[in-house]
Amino acid sequence: MKKRIVILCGGKSGEHPISCVSAGSVARTLKDSYQITPIGITRSGEWVGIPLEELCSWSLKDLPEIKAEGRERAEAVPGSGLLLGGKNVEADLVFPVLHGLGGEDGAVQGFLETLGLPYVGCGIFASAACIDKHYTKLILKASGIEVAPGITVDARGGVDASGALRKLEEEKIGWPVFVKPAWGGSSVGVAKVEAPEGLEKALKDAAKVSWRILVEEGIKGREIECAVLQRRGESPVAALPGEIIPSSSASFYDFEAKYVDTSLCKVQVPADLDSDTSDAIRREAVKAFEAVDGRQLMRVDFFLKEDGRILVNEINTMPGFTEISMYPLAWQSLGMSYRQILVDLVENAA
Ligand SMILES: Nc1ncnc2c1ncn2[C@@H]1O[C@H](COP(=O)(O)OP(=O)(O)OP(=O)(O)O)[C@@H](O)[C@H]1O
Ligand SMILES: [Mg+2]
Repeated sequence: MKKRIVILCGGKSGEHPISCVSAGSVARTLKDSYQITPIGITRSGEWVGIPLEELCSWSLKDLPEIKAEGRERAEAVPGSGLLLGGKNVEADLVFPVLHGLGGEDGAVQGFLETLGLPYVGCGIFASAACIDKHYTKLILKASGIEVAPGITVDARGGVDASGALRKLEEEKIGWPVFVKPAWGGSSVGVAKVEAPEGLEKALKDAAKVSWRILVEEGIKGREIECAVLQRRGESPVAALPGEIIPSSSASFYDFEAKYVDTSLCKVQVPADLDSDTSDAIRREAVKAFEAVDGRQLMRVDFFLKEDGRILVNEINTMPGFTEISMYPLAWQSLGMSYRQILVDLVENAA
């Protein structure tokens, strides 16, 4: 009998449409080998059934938005699992193709564990540890992995730009700095700030996304991303690193460059690196995977500085999964097809 998979997509985060597009690619690729039940999560958090043909038709050019109207409601009952339109959904496992808060942060992972459903991807701890860039950095630093120097500020009581400036000076952080929400994604709320006068506005913008905010030294270097895959009972392995190459008009890898005008950045896999550097990045990616207690998959994003030093910028526990996304492309460069990676993830879900 075919394995029965529930694909979860959408969600409350700003990356809702990207999740839908990734889930569409996943469903198109797996639908002949598995029995698939798609469940969408609206921006306001309702769970609804999505017809499989509809999910399979979604692509980057339509940036889908899941609405609850006219759709069957999905429910979850501890002990019974998932229900759709009041009927039990027979499921062997769940593939949460969800990005960002509420999907990639341990919340859904904990919910699925409560329901007793196996799922693809990292567990609760790694998901939670990697959604908050402040804590990701603490864990990486404690494991001997270099990260960008910076400070973390708490904006719950309002933004204190002069306090942040004092701290930056104490820590000898130079300009420009990058201001970024501790949790967020898709570069929303991320700003490059050239001089102290710009800090207050950037902190206020970041505070709209998360009250914990990182202010980091602006790192001059190349942006390298490394895909890690782990099969049950085996050690994690890293693919060849890829590179995000900005065009000269892109200020950095911001939302515009990611989704609006994709000509602003080019994704190149494998990155043009000498073999020592490539190997060092792959080793650091595996080390980072282990440091945060990863499972199955993760994309570790690096800066490669001009002097050859390697820093981890951030970790994505559910990286983008469209056919043009870095994670699957990286494995394709090693001869694994898009379908093979997905089958691998499904067959090794825990
Ligand atoms: N310290 C830094 N120095 C230089 N550039 C930075 C720094 N931090 C972030 N950036 C730039 O901003 C972009 C977005 O920052 P970051 O990757 O930390 O957050 P994000 O992309 O919003 O998160 P996610 O990848 O989870 O969606 C990076 O790809 C990089 O171009
Ligand atoms: Mg990023």
